Amino acid sequence: MRATQQLKDEHEGIKIMLTIMEKISNDLGKGKNMNKDHYAKIIEFIKGFADKCHHGKEEDILFPAMANHGIPKEGGPIAVMLNEHQLGRIHIKSLSSAFEEFKCGNKLAINDIISSSMSYVELLRNHIEKENNILFMMADKVLNEMEQLKIFEAFEILEAEKIGIGKHEEYHHLLKELRSIYLT
Ligand SMILES: [Fe+2]
Ligand SMILES: [Fe+2]
Repeated sequence: MRATQQLKDEHEGIKIMLTIMEKISNDLGKGKNMNKDHYAKIIEFIKGFADKCHHGKEEDILFPAMANHGIPKEGGPIAVMLNEHQLGRIHIKSLSSAFEEFKCGNKLAINDIISSSMSYVELLRNHIEKENNILFMMADKVLNEMEQLKIFEAFEILEAEKIGIGKHEEYHHLLKELRSIYLT
């Protein structure tokens, strides 16, 4: 499989989780209760899969490979992507601490959960569109099939190191489970 196709497939999974987060935020806004176990798993998915694993593949492997082909790391689209990853981390940090406060009984923290999660959803949706339609097309132009394969293999190693073997499957199960609960 092409390395960029693997990342696009992961985007589809992340987009489903963003829709679940949006649904929960809307429900919370209407005064519905939150399932805290589900929400803890969603935050874990975002941190472990979307950030550590997926953004890790882009930052540690794909972007440097593109930079080797003369696509600048600073002042261009790669820099924009890196900045957005950082901004996403800030939103997730705020979301995590609001969730911790909520778990400790601070009901007002629900407003911060809604605003941080929606900022994250909006950021990531736009980010994914830019990567799918601009950045990965640039990568496909400069990387030949052999390089794509080497990058794909490096992704597998990074994944095993960062989240562990079998975790990817676990995340897919979670996605399937939450999708059937929140999006049907
Ligand atoms: Fe990215
Ligand atoms: Fe991405």
